[in-house]
Amino acid sequence: VKPKIVVLGIFVADTAYRAERQPRMGETILGTSFVLGPGGKGSNQSVAAAMAGGDVTIISRLGRDAFADIARATWARAGVVPSVTEDPDSYTGAAYIFIENATGNNAIIVAAGAAGRISVADVEERAALIGGASVFITQLEQPIPSAKRALEIARAGGAKTILNPAPAATLGDDILALCDYVTPNESEAEGLTGLPVTTVAEAEKAADALLDRGVGAVIITLGEKGALYRDRTRSVHVPVIGAGPVVETTGAGDAFNGGFAVALGEGRDVVDAVRFGCATAGISVTRAGTAPAMPSRDEIEALLARS
Ligand code: RIB
Ligand code: NA
Repeated sequence: VKPKIVVLGIFVADTAYRAERQPRMGETILGTSFVLGPGGKGSNQSVAAAMAGGDVTIISRLGRDAFADIARATWARAGVVPSVTEDPDSYTGAAYIFIENATGNNAIIVAAGAAGRISVADVEERAALIGGASVFITQLEQPIPSAKRALEIARAGGAKTILNPAPAATLGDDILALCDYVTPNESEAEGLTGLPVTTVAEAEKAADALLDRGVGAVIITLGEKGALYRDRTRSVHVPVIGAGPVVETTGAGDAFNGGFAVALGEGRDVVDAVRFGCATAGISVTRAGTAPAMPSRDEIEALLARS
């Protein structure tokens, strides 16, 4: 049976502009392309998890507009079940994504709109759903008190809890102590700990600082260096599991988290689950877009089998 994964998070429409460089203040430049697609970390993670083999529900909030239609169509296509509050007083958000032609690297502005109003009440209404999950996962694009309440409910219900602390924020030990796993990237790990994270050795020190603050285990995603898994007894560096030339790295963290959540929910050893997440991300970066780049279960397993 498929593991039950519940995601709390946002959907936004990703508006992705490619150009040679970013414009300076007051300047207009010509870009080389534009793509509109589904995004938002929570939504991307829900799509990744459903395609990787999870039975996935997303808790979110949408406006009543054309971008909300994109959200629903995206979830329907991936098999994600929405548990969504429709908010007539706000809009479905959008993300400005700048992608640098030469590197595929990105810089992003997120306006969360309705999803930025996901409330503690929205979460409490869904306590049975959250507590009944085998894995619960959330991020920091919706209000942090809502994320915290959901982590409490998930923990009380016996779900494994994952916090992807993105975008970077300072967090109290109260919320960190509710997390079985936290999954920052390098800059988010720096933001959380105040420590530099540019090498695997530095990532180990940052992970220890998070363990000291009450997290169960830490996975720091390291871009082209792969990922570091660290708990109180084990420390494992998992190298990148590459699937081909990198086209766009936006959403790679979401791919990792969605794949990792499914493998964890299936009861795999946690380091195998990290490898499964790395393979999911490794395929996603070879394709344009975020949610549309998420691989199928078969693709992930084929990559793992040949790596
Ligand atoms: O992690 C990538 C996502 O972050 C994008 O889809 C964008 O919407 C931002 O929320
Ligand atoms: Na991608």
